[in-house]
Amino acid sequence: MKSSIFKIVTLTLSTITLFASAAFAAQKQSHVLVAYFSATGHTSEVAKAIAKELGATEVEIKPATPYTGNDLDWQAKSSRASKEHDDPTARPAIQEVNLALSLFDTVFLGFPIWWGEAPRIILTYLETHDLAGKKIILFATSGGSDFGRIAQTLQAFAPQSKVVEGRVFPGFMAEEDIPNQVHDWLVTIK
Ligand SMILES: Cc1cc2nc3c(=O)[nH]c(=O)nc-3n(C[C@H](O)[C@H](O)[C@H](O)COP(=O)(O)O)c2cc1C
Repeated sequence: MKSSIFKIVTLTLSTITLFASAAFAAQKQSHVLVAYFSATGHTSEVAKAIAKELGATEVEIKPATPYTGNDLDWQAKSSRASKEHDDPTARPAIQEVNLALSLFDTVFLGFPIWWGEAPRIILTYLETHDLAGKKIILFATSGGSDFGRIAQTLQAFAPQSKVVEGRVFPGFMAEEDIPNQVHDWLVTIK
């Protein structure tokens, strides 16, 4: 009899703990924003998988003037992306979205790697959005390049935030592999 009461009490307590931690997780996740720029869709797929896994809000950093295929020609010195890269002061304008950043304490910030760097539009984002006091976790897609010094560079543009180097995913992942790849990464940082 004693042992059955003990089992019932233990079961009840663990159920309460389970619900309490689930509620805590849900509450925590609602404070997470996934903000991303994606020119050809690869980073967007990763961003959506992160937002889905965490139940987070997602927002696309959209250029006021979208990039065309020619704009992205990295081999042409005169392409828009090349010119922006060659000009450290370039700050491509962003289509503004009405979103209260004060609601979030963690921002996953994603982008494609261009010439080993974050595209200039990410600097526009950091300079025009108040992320002070927040943790900024970087993620990216690329054709093989890693973060290199990107985290240090972006930290200088967000001095009042804590910039954390996250993960670079291959841009050529099969669509069905993305949720698992994202999950495997996220469990390492929770
Ligand atoms: C202008 C430009 C420059 C790039 N530079 C690099 C690079 O330095 N290293 C790399 O691994 N991939 C590079 N890439 C490939 C992209 O990082 C990769 O295709 C990425 O997944 C694209 O993401 P998106 O579809 O979200 O725009 C470059 C692509 C473009 C368009």
